[in-house]
Amino acid sequence: MKQVKLAVIGLGYIGRCHLEKIAMVGNIEIVAVCSRRKQHAQEIAAKYNCRAFTDYRKLLASKVSDAVLIATPHYSHTAIGIDALKAGCHVLVEKPISVHKADCQKLIAAHTNQNQVFAAMFNQRTLGAYKKIKSMIDGGELGKLMRVNWIITDWFRTDAYYSSGSWRATWVGEGGGVLLNQCPHQLDLLQWLCGMPSKVAGFCGLGKHHDIEVEDEVTAYLEFPNGATGVFIASTGEAPGTNRLEICGEKGKVVLEGENLRFSRNEIPCSQFQKTSKEPMAKPRVSEIDIDIEVTSHEDQRAEIIKNFANAILNGEKLIAPAAEGINSVELANAILYSSLTQKPVQLPLNAQTYEAKLQELINNP
Ligand SMILES: NC(=O)c1ccc[n+]([C@@H]2O[C@H](COP(=O)([O-])OP(=O)(O)OC[C@H]3O[C@@H](n4cnc5c(N)ncnc54)[C@H](O)[C@@H]3O)[C@@H](O)[C@H]2O)c1
Repeated sequence: MKQVKLAVIGLGYIGRCHLEKIAMVGNIEIVAVCSRRKQHAQEIAAKYNCRAFTDYRKLLASKVSDAVLIATPHYSHTAIGIDALKAGCHVLVEKPISVHKADCQKLIAAHTNQNQVFAAMFNQRTLGAYKKIKSMIDGGELGKLMRVNWIITDWFRTDAYYSSGSWRATWVGEGGGVLLNQCPHQLDLLQWLCGMPSKVAGFCGLGKHHDIEVEDEVTAYLEFPNGATGVFIASTGEAPGTNRLEICGEKGKVVLEGENLRFSRNEIPCSQFQKTSKEPMAKPRVSEIDIDIEVTSHEDQRAEIIKNFANAILNGEKLIAPAAEGINSVELANAILYSSLTQKPVQLPLNAQTYEAKLQELINNP
């Protein structure tokens, strides 16, 4: 069987999770690992019987791998990604693809050879519930979108989590908080399902629940080009927390909460019913449909993205999450934070340079 020769750069929490899974994905051979700590790199290389590097540039120059998986802290995704693409490698980059929009643009611009596969680890796109909702929206089952609400407050994190790495939860080391670390998954899914908003207003609590610099609580109002509205609420300080997505269209609404997906289908679209009904207080009749969904673990979702990446390289399989789409979740995160800091709504597209300058202010005066 043909195999992709893969190197993993960054051997922290997620790098090691990926290595465990890659060993089980048939069409990938782990040929190298890279950590800045020599002993750490050597120990893991010994486990996977591959080469150890302490400098990713030397790894790229060695040409030992034809693909790399970047699992380092967010800021470095841009430089490592650009260097890897320039070295001719296929690249799978962890989310967020970069910390801010200007860096995303630089990274995406480096992908000049379309024969190189460039994917991002948006593993939640593989979940049955989101795939089902996407096919319903794209197939017109909800009709014109009217409203989306996402409460994603079950990203609870302890102080021990925030002190587990010096880069975490600082403007200089991470460049953001819950919007940039935990919520790239939901912000990516939001734009994947509903498209990009045209305006956002954000209200963020910086270090509200933890002794950290960055945001750990967010409420955002969203407006879409067709007039639909949305509210996005996230927190790492609340337990037990909620993960509830509700998308409402003229033909009904889908609600996903936990493992339950329900479609409440209007027998007549509400906009039509409103105009044609002669009764002042009537509502369209509704059919309640509970939809069976397959739930997979985070590890299995990530394995599916890795397998898809390998299949894209070997057989031209369509990518589940092209890296270029990763700019949208970063832009949303940046815009919500920028709006909160300036106490003004933000029209999208966001000015990348203005945001970068604002982030630099936060770095200078945390
Ligand atoms: N897809 C997911 O569900 C998921 C889950 C967790 C983390 N992540 C992402 O993965 C990335 C890493 O997160 P983590 O939790 O594993 O962090 P971590 O701190 O546990 O690990 C990062 C590792 O990268 C190493 N590193 C830093 N710069 C390097 C360089 N230039 N060369 C080689 N190694 C370098 C660090 O020494 C550290 O070991 C983040 O961007 C995060 O958002 C994604």
